[in-house]
Amino acid sequence: AGISVRAPSSTANLGPGFDVFGLALDAYFDEVTLERTGGGISILSEGGIPTDPDRNTAGIVARVMMERFGITGGVEIRIRKGVPVGFGMGSSAASAAAAAVAFDGLFDLGLDGDTLVECAGAGERASAGAVHYDNVAASVLGGFVIVRTGPLSVIRVDPPAIPEMDVPPKKTQVSRGAVPERIAMADGVRNLANAAAMVAGFLRGEPEVIGSAIQDVIVEPARKHMIPGFDRVKGDALGAGALGVTISGAGPSVIALLAGSADSGAVADAMRGGFSSAGLGCRTVICGP
Ligand code: HSE
Repeated sequence: AGISVRAPSSTANLGPGFDVFGLALDAYFDEVTLERTGGGISILSEGGIPTDPDRNTAGIVARVMMERFGITGGVEIRIRKGVPVGFGMGSSAASAAAAAVAFDGLFDLGLDGDTLVECAGAGERASAGAVHYDNVAASVLGGFVIVRTGPLSVIRVDPPAIPEMDVPPKKTQVSRGAVPERIAMADGVRNLANAAAMVAGFLRGEPEVIGSAIQDVIVEPARKHMIPGFDRVKGDALGAGALGVTISGAGPSVIALLAGSADSGAVADAMRGGFSSAGLGCRTVICGP
């Protein structure tokens, strides 16, 4: 008998919280099923992701957890991908998170949230080439998460009911390499203030505060040129009533936060129009109630 776990997609950064903030999005889910076997790690998966256990995020998570917790025997991993790959919606993180939680259940480890996030992060590290726990923390714990590292410690907050919308254009390359290594103090201060305001907005359940805090003067300006039409998409979405707009994770999806009373159809139309003026097709997803 195996164990199946579903983990949601997520959006990372939310503007000023680069590598720190994550928010689970109930738009898409990955499902990972683990079963014990006599030995080794085998992977069955649909559509396009590697099935070599050393190149698959779920496989890497299983390997790391077997070593760390002294598990003998093997596992078979079946992956049903629901989160689109390469859009900045935490696809590899969702598989890694589901694998970590399923592994914990299958071997009755009783791990705490931070340890599960750390294990899931090992898979994410392999796929992203750098450690960042923002997506995996949101996928493992749900809700809005604040990731502290050295040592890893995640704070989770229940988000207020705010609909969010992701508008992925066709896949383009939006990378970590574009992120500046050095920043001006004034920019650091502005992002810190917005990040602090965002946490307050989540704690108080104030979508307007959260939306207005989605202002990033460091990472978004460095990456946005990789997303054709970004300025137009953002401007038009804000014009149509979005509270805040930014890149979802490393992109190229763009996320808009709306108040419950907003006309989500009008914002979606505005974003689609912005992308199509740049010659891109896109798909809109409305999350939340
Ligand atoms: N914080 C990471 C980044 C998330 O922006 O590169 C990647 O999904």
